[in-house]
Amino acid sequence: MGKIRAAITGVHGYVPDYVLTNQELETMVETNDEWITSRTGIKERRVLKGESKGTSVIGIAAAKALLKKTNTNPEDIDLVICATITPDMVFPATANVISAGIGAVNAFSYDIGAACSGFIYALTTGSQFIETGKYKKILVIGADKMSSIIDYKDRTTCIIFGDGGGAVLLEPTEDGDGIIDSIHKSDGNGAASLKMIAGGSVKPASHESVDAKEHYVRQDGATVFKFAVTNMADYAAKIMERNNLSSEDVDWLVAHQANKRIIDATASRMGLSDDKVMMNISKYGNTTAGTIPLLLWDYESKLKKGDNVIIAAFGGGFTWGSIYLKWAYDSK
Ligand code: UT7
Repeated sequence: MGKIRAAITGVHGYVPDYVLTNQELETMVETNDEWITSRTGIKERRVLKGESKGTSVIGIAAAKALLKKTNTNPEDIDLVICATITPDMVFPATANVISAGIGAVNAFSYDIGAACSGFIYALTTGSQFIETGKYKKILVIGADKMSSIIDYKDRTTCIIFGDGGGAVLLEPTEDGDGIIDSIHKSDGNGAASLKMIAGGSVKPASHESVDAKEHYVRQDGATVFKFAVTNMADYAAKIMERNNLSSEDVDWLVAHQANKRIIDATASRMGLSDDKVMMNISKYGNTTAGTIPLLLWDYESKLKKGDNVIIAAFGGGFTWGSIYLKWAYDSK
């Protein structure tokens, strides 16, 4: 018998219907399609509209579709992990709301808040419970309603972010596929460059915090860009090195979609041609914890059993890392 590994055995995404185009943003802030496209690669992003709709709406839609597609009984799910920085509420965890919404009555559930690296942190965390043999079916979800924390008068952030997410099913495998290696890192000093100031225990919501727009994302884009390019590329290269993978061996790069220039720099460092790089930033923008499952969903039909996949992410915190996995199935 081989080593038990955690394999992704299904993926499904969800994006809301409303499309916020660069052209519409031109009517909201001093910007233009040419600037946004050339600096970020983004053409449009989705926004979840409607009263009382939070991130769980995205997670529930993705998870329900995934359970149906994989013919999985929700009662068989052992654990639900949701990576998000835009939870429905501070508590209970959005993962709990999702579990209730999909009928995962035998699962325990919790959230992971690691911003744009949230999904890879959650994937590594979930995979440990499978590798030890403790659990058999885990839902790992990455979802964010970024529009709930974006100031649509701030052109430096509102052009980047969008709403959406996806879910994967993790199950044990002993045939050599699945998650083989992961490297993660964080650096709390990064808080100075990317954060939401108020709404936590340091600065609870007040009239003053609302007036000062402290419940929105604040980002020093150029600094974050510099750290993202270096660390995402370094960690993707590092995981290739320690698993003896050459650029020819790698079939896919699945990189967090924050800026096309960051993804291109990472791919170039890994020696990968464009056809090996999953890319959908033009249509969804940066959905924070949502980007990686959305990529896997979009490219699922092209993935083949045994493909060598490198996942890489960088985000607020700072948080970053890379995962090496062998894709476990051919899509039907
Ligand atoms: O996913 C979480 C991690 N986040 C990231 O990885 C984001 C990393 N950062 C970035 O992707 C880029 O830094 C941005 C896309 C946010 C900004 O691109 P940039 O090339 O770094 O631009 P910049 O901030 O250096 O600004 C260049 C110029 C400035 O004008 P001046 O000072 O040169 O006159 C900005 O005021 O572009 C101006 N500018 C804009 N112009 C038109 C900034 N935002 C806009 C805009 N439209 N939306």
